Amino acid sequence: MSPGSQPSVSSRMLMGFAELVEEKCGIHYRSEDRDLLASKLETQSLRGGYESLFTYYDRLRNDDAEGAELRELIEALVIHETYFFREMAPLLELVDGTLAGIVQSGRRARVLSAGCSTGEEPLTLAMLLDERELLDGVELVACDVSTKAIARARSGKFGRRALRDDHSRPLASRYLTTSYDGATIDPRLHAAVRFEVVNIIDPVALATLGTFDAILCRNVLIYFADDRVLRVVNLLANSLHTSGLLVVGVAESLLRFGTPMVCEEQHGSFLYRKQR
Ligand SMILES: C[S@@+](CC[C@H](N)C(=O)[O-])C[C@H]1O[C@@H](n2cnc3c(N)ncnc32)[C@H](O)[C@@H]1O
Repeated sequence: MSPGSQPSVSSRMLMGFAELVEEKCGIHYRSEDRDLLASKLETQSLRGGYESLFTYYDRLRNDDAEGAELRELIEALVIHETYFFREMAPLLELVDGTLAGIVQSGRRARVLSAGCSTGEEPLTLAMLLDERELLDGVELVACDVSTKAIARARSGKFGRRALRDDHSRPLASRYLTTSYDGATIDPRLHAAVRFEVVNIIDPVALATLGTFDAILCRNVLIYFADDRVLRVVNLLANSLHTSGLLVVGVAESLLRFGTPMVCEEQHGSFLYRKQR
């Protein structure tokens, strides 16, 4: 767009869609990703039988009191990429350091996997805890904004792509029953994780889950704009006990956001500790 010119109606509408999505779930579409957004919107608009993107937009903005149509759109936009045994080093640090210490002190620890997708992350944590006979001492809660992802997590069944990391075969053979089309988790382990549909940008919804000793929020904040990351990190910090730990993805860093959490290096993994 040349300086001073008006955006075309369609690019203005696209901006409107992008704002709506960001308002609802935090996912930010940078201007260079708007083509991707446009193509997903066209698919959704056709699926819903709308005459045009304009009528679809109008419906979302002005005639979707229950939010059902917007939820459908968000289901189509979220990226559920996850698999068992992903980014193991910080999970091992968490289990062998903080969680083992809390359980040995006689207290039951609480851990939240925020943005758990289809459940492979909290279930990997459950495997590590069970292997060390710590599982009974830790309450595991997992949440995602996507109803479909949580339904899948609750089913305890996983596709072949969930097993793409081959490094933890002993854990996989102990806790997963594999077949030609995927895997089923040991029901005892599955029962140890409570899966909930919760939008982590919603402070009221997040607060219903209670307070935790550690929160995993990995490969979720990358989809948010910087100001949103800071707000969400502050919300997650509110859901941590003093000295609680926040674990983000290995390619994510919170240092440039100036959060009140202090970054600690533990054997090559970076974890963020709540100070007060
Ligand atoms: C790429 S997956 C990461 C899954 C897992 N944490 C991992 O690292 O393997 C990102 C997940 O974040 C979820 N998500 C995105 N925005 C969210 C929000 N506002 N509240 C809760 N979950 C959200 C998506 O639905 C998706 O399942």
